[in-house]
Amino acid sequence: MIESRRPDVHLGRGFWMATAIYAILSIAAIAYWSVTPLSQWLPAASNTATEIDRFTRFLLAAGSALFIFVAGYVIYFAFAFRRRPTDPPDAIGVQVHGSHRLEFAWTFGAAAFVVLLSVISVAIWYGVEFQSTPGLVVEAIGHQWYYTFRYPGINGEVTQEMHVPVDTPLTVNVTSADVIHSFWVPGLRIKADMVPGLINTMHFVATRVGRYPIICTEFCGTLHGQMNKQVFVVDSKADFQKWYRDWQIKNAHVSNALPAAPGGGASGIDLSKGVATAGKALFAQKCSACHAIAPFEHRIVGPGLLGVLHDPKHPNLVNGKPATPADVAQILLNGYDGSMGHMPNATQNGLSAQDIANLVAYLETLK
Ligand code: CUA
Repeated sequence: MIESRRPDVHLGRGFWMATAIYAILSIAAIAYWSVTPLSQWLPAASNTATEIDRFTRFLLAAGSALFIFVAGYVIYFAFAFRRRPTDPPDAIGVQVHGSHRLEFAWTFGAAAFVVLLSVISVAIWYGVEFQSTPGLVVEAIGHQWYYTFRYPGINGEVTQEMHVPVDTPLTVNVTSADVIHSFWVPGLRIKADMVPGLINTMHFVATRVGRYPIICTEFCGTLHGQMNKQVFVVDSKADFQKWYRDWQIKNAHVSNALPAAPGGGASGIDLSKGVATAGKALFAQKCSACHAIAPFEHRIVGPGLLGVLHDPKHPNLVNGKPATPADVAQILLNGYDGSMGHMPNATQNGLSAQDIANLVAYLETLK
């Protein structure tokens, strides 16, 4: 039977004493997070970082205060209402229920707090996602297991480091050439998934010159853990101009066309520029899952490629064309579909024209 009258519960002096102590500790925690900048532990190098840090400090302050009360009362009640030797063996504590005022308070209080958190989160996210001034637009592309970057006015792709000028509106579009990666720059509180076939956009302003690691946070294969070696560089405007001009000169003769168009020719590929050692490293990353460095018969998914350009028993490639470097490049560019299976084209494999030249140079060394 449910009792309708309120039971006699005496909280006593100890309870109010504990409450006073928790209140003082909570006020101290809130004061601490109000004045403590998070940038002492992690640099805050963008306008987004400032907003996210302010929100994080609010969460830490509110969370600390809540934690002190919840954990504090658990400890206090466990002690105050502990079992006494004089209690009968089947004693259960005073059962409190039926207080609509309390239930209303903790249900709607908690719900209102969660709604407040979502409103602040969406407001910050909205600023990153939607901007009327695109500013400098840069593309970052994830590969197994590195990033490349594209800039307006620079031919081809930029490698190793991503440079941006300080105090300039930026739009960073991210996507992937192979599997799902992630583009995370902790120093700028900037993060987005890199999904093949999808472009994710971020708008922000880098506010502090420096070098900040770019980290992949989406498991993307065996060398996922190596995808934290590249750097997001925030330059002064003069340094950025110099870096930009150097890359324009360096990439002046690179085609800006996409590396591969299915059905197209291999005419954009200069095989004389192939570097066999680079091709060998790339082969280990991109090809070795399907191709062994072993005789033709040694098939994994596709045939073994030892001596692919020097095998008198197999003068033709699987597409029926003679085994020449140009024809190997054709298959790398356009992929292959036929009796020997399916091989993705260069776009799907994330291969640039230079990558193809490097791979052909490497395959040529295999006898
Ligand atoms: Cu790319 Cu993990």
